[in-house]
Amino acid sequence: MSTTKLIDGKAAAARVLTQVKEDVATLKRDGIEPALAVILLGEDPASQVYVRNKILRAEEAGIRSLEYRLGTDTSQAQLLNVIAELNADPGVNGILLQLPLPAHIEEARALQAIDPRKDVDGFHSENVGGLSQGRDVLTPCTPSGCMYLLREACGDLSGKHAVVIGRSNIVGKPMAALLLQAHCSVTVVHSRSTDAKSLCQLADIVIAAVGKPRLIDASWLKPGAVVIDVGINRIDDQGRSRLVGDVDFDSALPQVSAITPVPGGVGPMTIAFLMKNTVTAALQQAQAQRSQSEAVCLSIY
Ligand code: GUN
Repeated sequence: MSTTKLIDGKAAAARVLTQVKEDVATLKRDGIEPALAVILLGEDPASQVYVRNKILRAEEAGIRSLEYRLGTDTSQAQLLNVIAELNADPGVNGILLQLPLPAHIEEARALQAIDPRKDVDGFHSENVGGLSQGRDVLTPCTPSGCMYLLREACGDLSGKHAVVIGRSNIVGKPMAALLLQAHCSVTVVHSRSTDAKSLCQLADIVIAAVGKPRLIDASWLKPGAVVIDVGINRIDDQGRSRLVGDVDFDSALPQVSAITPVPGGVGPMTIAFLMKNTVTAALQQAQAQRSQSEAVCLSIY
């Protein structure tokens, strides 16, 4: 099996994190200590693993981390109080509310309560709207990581036809917006699309973010397509549990020019871009604070 087609997300994430670590050191020399607060409600096992990894990567990068583990029965009002305290704390630069939330919490209301300047997930409507208008805002971590991998694999994306499979707020929709910003022609297919497979066959770039194990095989792909597999699905394989993507990797490999594996593809990029967003948020907040105090000085004189 040729390995040259493999897009190594682990190695790419390590490169991003090395840069983040250097940026954190530079900020600290300037008196700025980036800090990330992570909120987890409930006992979802996958979320617990994700949160633990986010905290570990933050510590490795020199980012101060604060962990809020709240019970499943935490009320909406209690959660909003925690978010309000973190919004008001100038020592906290980034706030991440791990999804999914327990059913009694209104996800949109909780995400909307996070100060958009501290919204390192890029889920607040201010940032969602800013992304669709092409403004320089905090953008969702997984799609940002996919863009990084695509730029490394393809170079200039301008004019390429990208098909995004899935329309979630976390991946599909922001992914389509970022691809559009990079001058791709973008098609989004989803569970109600009647011609998902035939549209996918036209794609130079396929982003699979649908949550269905090995749905996309070689018959969906144009020869030479670049495939980014966002899916992380746990399956039972002859009595053993293992992770697979939304793409049938073995079937797709001979057909594509490049593809991300699962695991070791997109997964590590999500955390790397969370760290990058935290540093960006810390820098922007420090700059805003400095220009505010300069304005106060000017108004005194
Ligand atoms: N759950 C799965 N992916 C994500 C993510 O990117 N951010 C948050 N907050 N929760 C998630």
